[in-house]
Amino acid sequence: MFNKRLELTTEDDVVKKEKISACLKTDIIGKNLYLYKIIDSTNTKALSERLSGAIEGSVFIAEHQTSGKGRLGRNWIANDNKNILMSILIYPDIKLADISKLTLIAGLSVCKVIINELGLNAYLKWPNDIIINNKKVCGILINSKISNESVEGLAIGIGINVNSKYLPMEIEKKATSLAIESQSLLDRSKIITLILERFEKDYLIFLNNPVIPAEYKRLSCTLQKEISFYKHGTKITALAKDIAPSGNLVVQSKDKEYEIGSGEISIQDIY
Ligand code: BTN
Repeated sequence: MFNKRLELTTEDDVVKKEKISACLKTDIIGKNLYLYKIIDSTNTKALSERLSGAIEGSVFIAEHQTSGKGRLGRNWIANDNKNILMSILIYPDIKLADISKLTLIAGLSVCKVIINELGLNAYLKWPNDIIINNKKVCGILINSKISNESVEGLAIGIGINVNSKYLPMEIEKKATSLAIESQSLLDRSKIITLILERFEKDYLIFLNNPVIPAEYKRLSCTLQKEISFYKHGTKITALAKDIAPSGNLVVQSKDKEYEIGSGEISIQDIY
């Protein structure tokens, strides 16, 4: 059900640190919040602050990024002052192989907030794009600092199209926003608060037991679909069968079963 509390009450659409801090019920995530009007990339900033001794759970939020990073070396394109561009800095004591699982967990956390608080039909496109009405509304990118085979810090970068009524030309055919889908302007500070709370719960559960929850599969719009992907330059079409315990996507082509660990898949009719 759409939660009216999340509607913007004034035209003044600004993310406010005080508003987030006043409502936030977490122990670690978001205890320190840093807001920037303009920055190169919140992920880059978060990892550089790791070196300067930022505490675990510090959150970096920007209204505009000059070089927002997307997956697979792409740029993240977003309108200014309308969206959520944030990175959560964490220092998990996990194996390197578990990092990719955490990207799935972060996607799941955001997806649950969109479903449960905004009442929108959101789904997860493997690994962690969030899709509404076949278009992308959120992307997640983890950047890491690894030393001697151990995780020193992770920046969980979350980009959500929130209040853009029109999306930049480069992405308009394949992207949507929460405002377009809910027909309302939304309070970004409240949505950030809910995501930080949800992510903290899911993160702590994951640290205790680093497995991918069954819920991820339930909210997947990838499983049981015919997908395509490139392997060594050749296009392969296959059925998406399962999510392996590692977080890899298990697919069955005409002659072979594969596990895909990274990269991009295409699903017919989804952007
Ligand atoms: C994707 O390509 O789907 C991932 C996009 C991730 C974008 C977010 S915006 C906040 C954070 N800072 C960045 O530079 N990128 C991530």
